[in-house]
Amino acid sequence: MDKVLIFDTTLRDGEQALSSSLSVKEKIVIAHALAKLNVDIIEAGFPVSSPGDLESVRQIANSVKGPIVAGLARAVRKDIDACAEALKECPRPRIHTFIATSSMHVESKLKKGYDEVIRMGVDAVTYARNFCDDVEFSCEDAGRTDRDMLCRIVEATINAGAKTINIPDTVGYTVGYEFGDIIKDIFNRVPNIDKATISVHCHNDLGQAAANSLMAVLNGARQIECTVNGLGERAGNCSMEEVVMAMRTRKDIFGIDTNIITEEITHTSRLVSKICNVPVQPNKAIVGATAFAHSSGIHQDGVLKNRSNYEIMTPESVGLSANQFHLTSRSGRHIIKHRLSLLGYEENSYDLDLFYEKFLALADKKGTVYDDDLEAMMEIEGDEVDKYKMVYLSTTSGTGSIPSATVKIHDTTEPESEPIQEAATGDGPVDAACKAIDRAVGFSIKMVDYALTGLTGGQNALGEVKIVAEHKDRRYHGQGSSTDIVEASALAYMNVINKVARMEGIEKIKEMKA
Ligand code: KIV
Ligand code: ZN
Repeated sequence: MDKVLIFDTTLRDGEQALSSSLSVKEKIVIAHALAKLNVDIIEAGFPVSSPGDLESVRQIANSVKGPIVAGLARAVRKDIDACAEALKECPRPRIHTFIATSSMHVESKLKKGYDEVIRMGVDAVTYARNFCDDVEFSCEDAGRTDRDMLCRIVEATINAGAKTINIPDTVGYTVGYEFGDIIKDIFNRVPNIDKATISVHCHNDLGQAAANSLMAVLNGARQIECTVNGLGERAGNCSMEEVVMAMRTRKDIFGIDTNIITEEITHTSRLVSKICNVPVQPNKAIVGATAFAHSSGIHQDGVLKNRSNYEIMTPESVGLSANQFHLTSRSGRHIIKHRLSLLGYEENSYDLDLFYEKFLALADKKGTVYDDDLEAMMEIEGDEVDKYKMVYLSTTSGTGSIPSATVKIHDTTEPESEPIQEAATGDGPVDAACKAIDRAVGFSIKMVDYALTGLTGGQNALGEVKIVAEHKDRRYHGQGSSTDIVEASALAYMNVINKVARMEGIEKIKEMKA
């Protein structure tokens, strides 16, 4: 059946825009969610960029079942070798190689002639085909590339064996009719175009990425490169959820669909936002918190009379459950497990006993626990166990008093040791708690960003704190949630402290090996 393939590049183009990179474990969690969403291709990384990236592409390639796994390579042999190495055990590998084709990039970035660029593209595709049959070639900055040049390199790389040709609007410069026309021109002018699938890869600098990708589909493109929540360089990439739901909702216009299991969209969006530490804008199409909320009286009345009056797609179709169970401390493990599975968490991805303990503690504090609370409580396991555990926190603050905090921190690598107790004063209770933690662990980090969000509704809402902190020129993301915002802040701080401790451990091992 004719389908538009979804090529997800959250773990490559999306990840390269994050202020601190994801761990291998975090990437694998996202890759599994993408497989469950049923994307056709996962671009797992850029293997030559670092040994960590190569390792994560390798682990994703070897463990994720279903989608094709792609690795990115510039049009040079060492990049292609790194990709081939990372993908060598992959059941469905793809090497994605690219070179810039616009005169601006060719002249001022590559400093080469156009014939040389074509030769490099052809050589890269030919070389990559030694390792796998599925080779994709991208013309970086195609949106600003001269059409004759573009058609020449597309024809040459198809002849060299590229099965997919990607036309990126790298800088998000084009508008709908113009981008659609580029695709139309390629179909009309490239004689061997029937031998390849045409893909598009649009960035969102002018807010046109989804619209441009859809115009490309109307003109024959059959692969869209996109990211969850539109994550990516600058203003981001094309949003997966927007193009998928546009084609699903407007079948009358597109007459074509994707393989995406749309009911997985909300879960995947929340997971990616949480792991990448990038909040979703509340009014973001499809996945924003208010995307299905009706505020005005006229709208609410209209929806009550007939949902279609103001809803062009149902919340259920993107996995937003209308059926919000009210869970309380009387709810058993079975119902919690059931709710979590409806929210997209597989039983083997968390420890039910531990989760249930946390659930009961929250239910005792809050009374009623909602789906949002369950999602907020679900922790994404790190690569290793935390070195430091906060076992006690007490803070005082108030008008006219000096804010102070006392913490007890246990070093879990020395199970017999007593927790270290420290106290400090600060500008506020959060500052005091952070200073007390610094004293207890014996080093400090520099907080560069702090954001508090109410994750769930009501007076006893769970607050989530996300911080960005620096230590020895490296940036770390931390997060923590609790009904107590000072505790949430201290937990986010501890999260970074543990990441720093892990990194210091790795550095020490490297020094010892050197
Ligand atoms: O935006 C772009 O051109 C890219 C290519 C590497 C495909 O990300
Ligand atoms: Zn890109």
